[in-house]
Amino acid sequence: MITIKDLSYKYKTGDFSLSNINLEIKDNEFVTIIGQNGSGKSTFSKLLSGLVKFKKGQILIDDLDLSDKKKALEIRKQVAIVFQNPETQIIFDKVYDDMAFGLKNLGFSSEEINNRIDEALKQVNMFDLKNAYTTELSLGQKQRIAIASSLAIHPKVLILDEPTTMLDPTSKKQVYEILRNLKQKGITIIYITNFIDEILLSDRTIIFEKGQQKRDFYKKDLLFNLEYLKDFEFPGIISLISTLHEQGLDINLEDLSIHELANKLNKKV
Ligand SMILES: Nc1ncnc2c1ncn2[C@@H]1O[C@H](COP(=O)(O)OP(=O)(O)OP(=O)(O)O)[C@@H](O)[C@H]1O
Ligand SMILES: [Mg+2]
Repeated sequence: MITIKDLSYKYKTGDFSLSNINLEIKDNEFVTIIGQNGSGKSTFSKLLSGLVKFKKGQILIDDLDLSDKKKALEIRKQVAIVFQNPETQIIFDKVYDDMAFGLKNLGFSSEEINNRIDEALKQVNMFDLKNAYTTELSLGQKQRIAIASSLAIHPKVLILDEPTTMLDPTSKKQVYEILRNLKQKGITIIYITNFIDEILLSDRTIIFEKGQQKRDFYKKDLLFNLEYLKDFEFPGIISLISTLHEQGLDINLEDLSIHELANKLNKKV
């Protein structure tokens, strides 16, 4: 369980501040965070991953206190983060070396590193490219390697900050598929997005506005929260759902993903 209490943060320069974030995120929950540009999503993800230190408030992952400087290594083992641009996350020329680097730093043996890399590459469907050159990979493949590197850590929490923004539609779908499978493996996922459609991937959505949490709702309650999402780029699948619902189509949002809605509509036609 992640427990965030009265978390606030201010950069040394500029006016922006993250204020009074209070959240509880259960194990194995898949949460999306959506908000306008500059609303503090990435700042939040950096605090939650231990990359940026904070002075006000508390973040606990079970009983691991993220403000405890002595626990830096433990924090890196429990929380992994994937960023928007895969190019900035891959340093080495070969997939294996790139993935091994972070694991070596965490102190794992060569054998353990090899096993973890194999397992993680299979999870992202890229085992065949274990010995490939990273320079030969597409952006989508690079992002899957970045995800695999995170998974190889066996984190309790995986944070993804707009991981699909630079990807083509096929690569996006591959990322969604990986996340769906991860959910079944018991990992807690915090997925930051600017694409409204992507909130359907998750169980729960938190809307950030000007450094504050504006709304927090479960997917089953999406239809009662549509007005809070009006600022985002509509029309999208969310407005389709809303219209279908108004017209009497019985949609169980609790279990719904983009994929499932497509299947549902297919059967009706
Ligand atoms: N290193 C920094 N120093 C000063 N201000 C910063 C720094 N990084 C971000 N900010 C400011 O903090 C605010 C929140 O930025 P943040 O990147 O967290 O927003 P975001 O919701 O992730 O936005 P986007 O959707 O564009 O990714 C912005 O006003 C930004 O200018
Ligand atoms: Mg951001």
